[in-house]
Amino acid sequence: MSALVDAQRAAARELLDPAALAYYESGAGSEITRREARAAWSHYRLRPRVLTDVADVDLSLELFGARLRTPLLVAPTAFHRLAHAEGELATARGATASGSLMVVSTRSSTPLEVVAEACGGPWWFQVYATRDPAVHRALALRARDAGATALVLTGDTPYVGRKPRSDGPGVPGIEQMIAVNTAQHLAPGAAADAVDQTPAVTVAMIDELATLTGLPVLVKGVLRGDEAARCVAAGAAGVVVSTHGGRQLDRVVPSAYALPDVVAAVGERVPVLVDGGICSGLDALTALALGARAVLLGRPVLWALAAGGADGVRELLDTLGDDLEHVMALAGAPRLADLTPDLVTAGGGATAWGHGASDPGH
Ligand code: FNR
Repeated sequence: MSALVDAQRAAARELLDPAALAYYESGAGSEITRREARAAWSHYRLRPRVLTDVADVDLSLELFGARLRTPLLVAPTAFHRLAHAEGELATARGATASGSLMVVSTRSSTPLEVVAEACGGPWWFQVYATRDPAVHRALALRARDAGATALVLTGDTPYVGRKPRSDGPGVPGIEQMIAVNTAQHLAPGAAADAVDQTPAVTVAMIDELATLTGLPVLVKGVLRGDEAARCVAAGAAGVVVSTHGGRQLDRVVPSAYALPDVVAAVGERVPVLVDGGICSGLDALTALALGARAVLLGRPVLWALAAGGADGVRELLDTLGDDLEHVMALAGAPRLADLTPDLVTAGGGATAWGHGASDPGH
């Protein structure tokens, strides 16, 4: 783990309300998936190139029309105002200052239009299928009108995963944040759960959102090549390999091990992104070499936000970007396009699932 991530996490632990901390840290079930996420990246071993000119290392890329200075993106996470008084506004400013891109959650604690304004650069919006489809349709259109350049449909959340460590009395203040984006779309007399996730969602939602908004739709939470192919056949413009930070189905395969299968299935047709346990340049290098076009950071951004607001988020993304540049140089791969699967071998035990040190806090 990058020393900065460690320091920001330690600061966040001091600063956050214990219930908010537990909400951010926790995973589903016995938290096996949450614990394995980071170690899984470290099971791969690298096969660097030598005597390659790496005087100029370039992290820039284009994704769905957005020019970005870094492939380290901000994953959609809920309720940033639990971490910092400026909430998503600070995250947005930090991400944009670093040349990154924020995926704004449906569960943002600041209205999506206000976050959009703070971004001042490209951003994407994360969508949950809601029990009343009029709600997610309205949100998707609002996001498009506010300037989102892609939608990320989260596919792993028919129900919210049960998290023994944080389910219970609730986090102070969370009730006021849950429906910041959605409450206005609740039909008169409708049950309050009409704005919640629906378990009755299918791949038809991909085309529904794409046709409604004209935006590219990525599906997040894909862990199998055949499922990625099913999403792409149904109109997905990209997929995000993700275990939702180990917060949905426990004991699923770590993103690091699922990624190669998904890249083999759809990587030549659409961008494949990945998240889960990425907290160093080496983790990101491994993911990008295995075929990810970009990686997303969830909890590290929340720690950075809690520790230092917008500056903390910018510092996190800049520092990990610098770290990534350094290891790309050492690996003999100065451009993102040079990060190819031959740089990585599973020889370190990448198939020994669950082996290796687990990280209690990530
Ligand atoms: C999440 N995640 C998430 N995903 C999503 O699609 N919509 C959401 O609202 C949230 N909310 C959320 C809250 C919190 C507290 C966490 C920790 C995570 C999942 C997130 O996008 C991402 O998949 C993981 O966080 C990535 O793993 P790391 O980087 O946290 O290890």
